[in-house]
Amino acid sequence: MRVFAFNQREQSHIDALRRKISAFFSAEFQRLLADMSSASFNTSSSSSDNTSESEADACTEKTRRALLIGALATTTCLVCSTRVHAGEDPPGSDERPQKGDVLVFSEGDQEGKLIAAADLSAGGPPVHAWPKDPKTSVVRSASRLNEILIIRLDPAELDEQTKARAVDGIIAYSAICSHAGCPVTAWTKSDVGDQEVFKCMCHNSEYDPRAGAQVVFGPAPRRLAALPLALADGSLSVAGNFIGKVGGVQPG
Ligand code: FES
Repeated sequence: MRVFAFNQREQSHIDALRRKISAFFSAEFQRLLADMSSASFNTSSSSSDNTSESEADACTEKTRRALLIGALATTTCLVCSTRVHAGEDPPGSDERPQKGDVLVFSEGDQEGKLIAAADLSAGGPPVHAWPKDPKTSVVRSASRLNEILIIRLDPAELDEQTKARAVDGIIAYSAICSHAGCPVTAWTKSDVGDQEVFKCMCHNSEYDPRAGAQVVFGPAPRRLAALPLALADGSLSVAGNFIGKVGGVQPG
């Protein structure tokens, strides 16, 4: 059997592609959910048996499609981000973030560039990052479990525990959903409140970064792991190990 190997740069592109695919599936999923609730409303208000039957069939078909898209999204996220072979990755690149690591952009035009406090807009959206060993310059991107979400919020909005881990309202969490391990890709208004939250589009779990990324909606069983930060001369660094378990608890 042929074994494929990806270097850090290739894996980074694969991860960016994974996020785009996830965003596509999530948009489709949301559209289907909207269609389904509309079909459901029409079915209950119809007076014709035939019409009701065909609308019910349509709704069933849409439910089937929505479930299929959710399953595909999960599978795609996990398969695209699975490393088949990590032999070319430099030593330390799959180790969890270490105290003193700096943080670099994991995607976009600034990929690989150091993240400074000034790069984060107040109120979001979050920036996706990798930890980087400042001594060896190794980016710890060989494990998808090392991807981090960094966001700057009003310190007054943070609960006491979150505030203790934040610097100037900047906080960091694992970017991996605690449900089935998809990447958390969205920053959007919550389904259950007025505030914006982190959202995993595989099965719609939501996390509130103001309250230690506790789960506010969806099937995720626990909060995202938190990563304490430090700030020196405008640059962010890791102040300690992840707090909490990183990764999902079950396959999609
Ligand atoms: S993997 Fe995130 S909600 Fe299921």
